Amino acid sequence: MSDKGPVIISIASGKGGVGKTCITINLAASLAEKGKKVLVIDCDLGLANIDIMLGINPKSNLKDIIFKDADVRDVLIRTKAGFDFIPASSGAREMNQLLNEDIEKLKTLIARMSQGYDYVFLDIGAGISDTVLHFNLLASRNFIIVSRDLTSITDAYATMKMVYQMFGKQTFDIIVNSVRDDADGLKVFNHIDSICRKFLNFSLHHLGSIPFDEVVPRSIMKQTVLVHLFPESSAAVKIHQIAGNISP
Ligand SMILES: Nc1ncnc2c1ncn2[C@@H]1O[C@H](COP(=O)(O)OP(=O)(O)OP(=O)(O)O)[C@@H](O)[C@H]1O
Ligand SMILES: [Mg+2]
Repeated sequence: MSDKGPVIISIASGKGGVGKTCITINLAASLAEKGKKVLVIDCDLGLANIDIMLGINPKSNLKDIIFKDADVRDVLIRTKAGFDFIPASSGAREMNQLLNEDIEKLKTLIARMSQGYDYVFLDIGAGISDTVLHFNLLASRNFIIVSRDLTSITDAYATMKMVYQMFGKQTFDIIVNSVRDDADGLKVFNHIDSICRKFLNFSLHHLGSIPFDEVVPRSIMKQTVLVHLFPESSAAVKIHQIAGNISP
């Protein structure tokens, strides 16, 4: 593990379905392949689905840790993808609206769970509820996933604006997903970067772009991470590059 302690990375987007979960598990698998110790926490408290993407059937989840004081070691799953994983519960309404005291508890828990890891990924749900936004506060690096859709760009902007206004954060790493090519990704990045510079007075960092690739849904069908199932695919190559940018 690095001397500086774990790097906690939140993965948010505002708009749903832009690829947060796919990117989270594949970056985690790629970093694990590089020998890093990686933990993924499913923080999509309403509609968890990392377990489905990995073909896992968890017996307990984050909710049991928060509300029933379950032992983290009993909830933690060592995945075939090479990283450790804390699942969330799906369809649990009370988890969508965490109280301030729950968020404080979660903050302490995440700090504790992160010990011994190099990288911890928080895969956050869509939307801009208080709970969703607070997960950005708990992270040391904030990744924002955006696609070419105008609504994705406006929702990503709204997320960053809220996180900035609520917590004063103004350093965001952008990953543009489902692009045609690198030039396309750069164009989307420049667009959102110019909006942030104009209205929020800070600029963004472009971590990389991932092409639209039909192997992505195929890897989900096979419940195996893309970087293992189709390591030569254009999307997998880009994910490895982005992992290299995270951990040079
Ligand atoms: N680069 C890509 N190329 C092709 N399809 C992709 C790509 N990235 C994601 N997808 C597809 O988009 C869908 C949504 O992906 P994913 O579940 O990761 O999004 P999400 O942002 O986590 O969604 P939610 O907001 O519901 O949590 C999946 O069916 C996946 O196959
Ligand atoms: Mg998701």
